[in-house]
Amino acid sequence: VVDISTFYQDTGMFTFDRGYTSTASCRSRITFIDGDKGQLMYRGYDISYLAQERTFLDVAYLLLNKELPTIEQRVDFCLEMKKRSFIHEGMKKLFDAFPDNAHPMAILSAGVSALSTFYFEHIDIDNPDEYMEMAKRIVAKIPTIAAFSYRSSLGLPIIYPDLDRGFTENFLYMLRGYPHKHIDLKPIEIKALDTIFTLHADHEQNASTTTVRNVASTHAHPYAAISAGIGALWGRAHGGANESVIRQLEMIGSVDRVDEFIKRAKDKDDPFRLMGFGHRVYKNFDPRANILKKIRTELMKEIEIDSKLVEVANRIEEIALTDDYFISRKLYPNIDFYSGLILQALKIPKEMFAVIFVIGRTPGWISQWIELKEQPTIKIARPRQLYLGPVDITPKH
Ligand code: ACO
Repeated sequence: VVDISTFYQDTGMFTFDRGYTSTASCRSRITFIDGDKGQLMYRGYDISYLAQERTFLDVAYLLLNKELPTIEQRVDFCLEMKKRSFIHEGMKKLFDAFPDNAHPMAILSAGVSALSTFYFEHIDIDNPDEYMEMAKRIVAKIPTIAAFSYRSSLGLPIIYPDLDRGFTENFLYMLRGYPHKHIDLKPIEIKALDTIFTLHADHEQNASTTTVRNVASTHAHPYAAISAGIGALWGRAHGGANESVIRQLEMIGSVDRVDEFIKRAKDKDDPFRLMGFGHRVYKNFDPRANILKKIRTELMKEIEIDSKLVEVANRIEEIALTDDYFISRKLYPNIDFYSGLILQALKIPKEMFAVIFVIGRTPGWISQWIELKEQPTIKIARPRQLYLGPVDITPKH
């Protein structure tokens, strides 16, 4: 039997970095994070400025085109998004084919992949005009596929995009509306969802973005890369976290049970964790959480929110911000703690929370695909491994 340690000594420089916590996989000019200072910037612009002063479509434009749009460019981009928001009628058969109650993330991932079959004839991934067209097409069509997937999973009639509505308002309309019926959407509801999209638009080399880049490194087209990214985002440790926050708050149920669960979160023999607290990178505060906290307060003034859930959430937040266990470990509320509560208030069903994340993250994923494409040479992503199994035990005759 070969001594494995000798083999790895002979391989030259070889690092073992579980979860790639300290290995940069690329050079990037898209998103900057300073976890200690609680800073997040897209293409040099601070996230607070983008969330408060700009719309999600401005941010999508910024990520894709490397600069914020002028007024004319903004008008053109909005129009381009509207024109591309419809999906090929043939795709409707796809929604019909899924079983009732199919998870919207499964339909979304299949739907994005299927776009390549309906819009394939011009795919030339080496031509910037072509891949920018694909980029716009995907950003524009994802909300439609997302809303169709949700409604078809419930057997509800699908609602086509309304060209008189803006990007985020149109998505809420397609999700919650009724065909040919007026739907009253408050500006604060649209602003809250638009902000959630903006705050999710990119977050450097997280698991799903890394997946998108890995797929892109094989020269696959953006439909394939984004579809894979959706799969990576589906897990509860990533896009599924805000859904877990709401499920946990519902499980706790009332303020008088909060202490019991805080005690469990601190008990090292208990696997229970407070969902929506802590972050791998932000060790001071999550700047996205601070922005959403303000939005939640504004929302609460205008629309009815499940007050029991909010009471439980407030109590947990209060304890966590003053308790030594959480302070010493730098466990602050993260974006999911507030986004879960906001999406719940917007009457968005829990199984759609990760889908909302996808809509927000899509411009980021595509801009990462483009950045990789624009490098002079593309190196295929191909990590090594530390092999621990047997070697050379084949019977010798
Ligand atoms: N509740 C209780 N204790 C916690 C929590 C929590 N939510 N998070 C971390 N800790 C404790 C750990 O037990 C550990 O304690 P110890 O030092 O006594 O052993 C210490 O804090 C450090 O925890 P790690 O798991 O090493 O921190 P890491 O940076 O690897 O994990 C993570 C970050 C995964 C986000 C973690 O804090 C967590 O599980 N949080 C809850 C889930 C969650 O909210 N996820 C969403 C993240 S944001 C996003 O994905 C967009």
